[in-house]
Amino acid sequence: MSKYIDNISLAIETAREKLASASSAAELENARVSLIGRNGAFTALGKDLASLPSEERPDAGKALNAAKEEVLALINVLSAKIATASNLGEKERAEDLTLPGRKWKIGRKHPVNIVIDDCVRIFRRMGFIVAEGPEIETVFHNFDALNTPYDHPSRDTADTFYFADGRLLRTQTSPVQIRVMEKQEPPVRIVAPGRCFRRDTPDATHSANFHQIEGLYVDKDVSMADLKSVLLQFARELMGQDVNIRLRPHFFPFTEPSVEYDFSCVMCSGKGCRICKHSGWLEISGAGMVNPAVFSNIGYDPEKWSGFAFGMGIERIAMIRYKITDIRLLYENDGRFLNQFVNIH
Ligand code: PHE
Repeated sequence: MSKYIDNISLAIETAREKLASASSAAELENARVSLIGRNGAFTALGKDLASLPSEERPDAGKALNAAKEEVLALINVLSAKIATASNLGEKERAEDLTLPGRKWKIGRKHPVNIVIDDCVRIFRRMGFIVAEGPEIETVFHNFDALNTPYDHPSRDTADTFYFADGRLLRTQTSPVQIRVMEKQEPPVRIVAPGRCFRRDTPDATHSANFHQIEGLYVDKDVSMADLKSVLLQFARELMGQDVNIRLRPHFFPFTEPSVEYDFSCVMCSGKGCRICKHSGWLEISGAGMVNPAVFSNIGYDPEKWSGFAFGMGIERIAMIRYKITDIRLLYENDGRFLNQFVNIH
């Protein structure tokens, strides 16, 4: 009896070693056949049972079955392991160090985001903080509170995208001015970059979806000179120290007086070229002193507070800076275009 049990123990030891060294499905199959196949070690042990004295047979049989079960369980575990290993991708298998390396594709910032981040960095250094507002706006925030007359053409459904519930896709970042002033008391010093939408037919200089960066400064005794110095400082930080700006009278409902401001042409330094249409100046965007009516609309005392606001098109600046001649290139997501903008920051 003990001799027979010893033989089972020995067979189990051998089985464990054989199975442990099997590293492929074929090797595992060979091991299986040599253990529990027709001429396998455990099959032979089964045959030997018959020659044992009958009183020893039940215990010997139990021991043999337990051993066979262990072997079967081992085989199952191993075959699952081998199956997973053969499904692994190249990376998980042992590395072949002779293969050439794989080139990493490094992501880049979109030119629109490069310009937004540069503008924000410059204004932050001047003490402005970033504010945000929703892209889906109310008529109140986008037009009414900004003192826009009810018959102003920008309210028309031909210019503005409206929702069935009366809300709209903001046509400018100026409603962020209102959102900020509703929430906080002066002084205010914010810039608000963001996406805007207008019902424009796309062409080389128009897109139905574009970006602006808004600025709002409210305090006591703020003057046009403050506005001009902020814009000049900004222009020089962004485009170079030899850039000049000029303000031209204009009209916006929410600023009074209002101006449009230009940068001196960065291509020809103001001498006149094709880019500036021989004027020496590049139109950037609008600005002005906050209209007292806007302060009244949101509950600031116009006798006490004064301020300036400005808003400029990000794509316009990106196009000037990178000499992009068609705004649509910015939205086509073409790697050949986008990979040219090295993000230096
Ligand atoms: N919101 C104006 C536009 O979209 C720009 C602007 C902003 C003008 C702030 C004055 C003050 O044209």
